[in-house]
Amino acid sequence: MSVLTDTYTLNNGTKIPKIGFGTWQTAEGKTAYDAVSLALQTGYRHIDTARAYGNEHSVGQAIADSDVKREDLWVTTKLPAGDKTRDAILADFDRSMTALNLDYIDLYLIHGPWPWSQAGRRHFDSENTETWKTLEELQRSGRIRSIGLSNFDVHDMTNILNIAEIKPVVNQIQYYIGFTEPKISAFAKENDIRIEAYSPLATGDILNTPSVQQLADKYQVSVPQLALRFTLQNGTVTLPKARSRQHIEEDSQLDFQISDADMAVLNASADAAPMHSHNRTQG
Ligand SMILES: NC(=O)c1ccc[n+]([C@@H]2O[C@H](COP(=O)([O-])OP(=O)(O)OC[C@H]3O[C@@H](n4cnc5c(N)ncnc54)[C@H](OP(=O)(O)O)[C@@H]3O)[C@@H](O)[C@H]2O)c1
Repeated sequence: MSVLTDTYTLNNGTKIPKIGFGTWQTAEGKTAYDAVSLALQTGYRHIDTARAYGNEHSVGQAIADSDVKREDLWVTTKLPAGDKTRDAILADFDRSMTALNLDYIDLYLIHGPWPWSQAGRRHFDSENTETWKTLEELQRSGRIRSIGLSNFDVHDMTNILNIAEIKPVVNQIQYYIGFTEPKISAFAKENDIRIEAYSPLATGDILNTPSVQQLADKYQVSVPQLALRFTLQNGTVTLPKARSRQHIEEDSQLDFQISDADMAVLNASADAAPMHSHNRTQG
């Protein structure tokens, strides 16, 4: 069994492929179409997009043109972070479904607990409550299989758990070697919410970190392979983004094991990409 088809079982019983193919900054048109097509040919069975990435149409076209059966594929998209009223959410969701051209999506996430322009300035508890209730309504309609969160800290997760009739299945957060959000990760685990690791390569900023390179050499793998394997062994869904064939293939070859001792070193290490920009509600 390839690591690309390994799954975790989420708190609602659905099985999510452990590796999702990231598409942020993968431009709509030929770039996104080719990247997703190549990923599907390589064997990725989980695609992560968002309304905000502007590429849902090309992602959907690549899925439609592939040989992969819909039931063998996991598709995640995200509600724009700034839209938190029922009317805006229903309109956003319809636009995503039209662009993706799918009958249902596997996972719909609130992209952020705040509009990006106000990230970290205050909490939006009542707005997120209305948002969650609307996502629950959409899931009940059958057009979404699972619903979840992204960029939520402990306060924001608690706010949702206090009112949820349907529990979030995941929280998608920035997560890479030396930046693993211990408080958010521990709280999510206590509440059976799976962490999805976004920017597992720190959007490329981890590539030239000498300490990670040293350990990658020991395992005769590349830095991205070590960094991705690290996130998997910590039990997260991991979301590498790539556009070239070489990167797409390399990031799928993760059938090796980091020893417990080396995982302990990595888990204790300092931020492997200290210059990388961090979300202001995290850290
Ligand atoms: N929920 C959120 O707020 C949020 C935020 C950020 C990201 N995400 C999700 O997480 C995904 C991944 O995060 P990310 O986009 O920040 O990027 P990432 O996966 O951390 O890093 C991607 C960068 O690494 C390069 N790369 C990939 N594989 C490589 C390899 N084997 N060797 C050398 N370079 C390699 C890519 O190059 P090429 O592209 O040139 O191949 C790209 O420049 C996103 O695409 C998105 O789906 C979600």
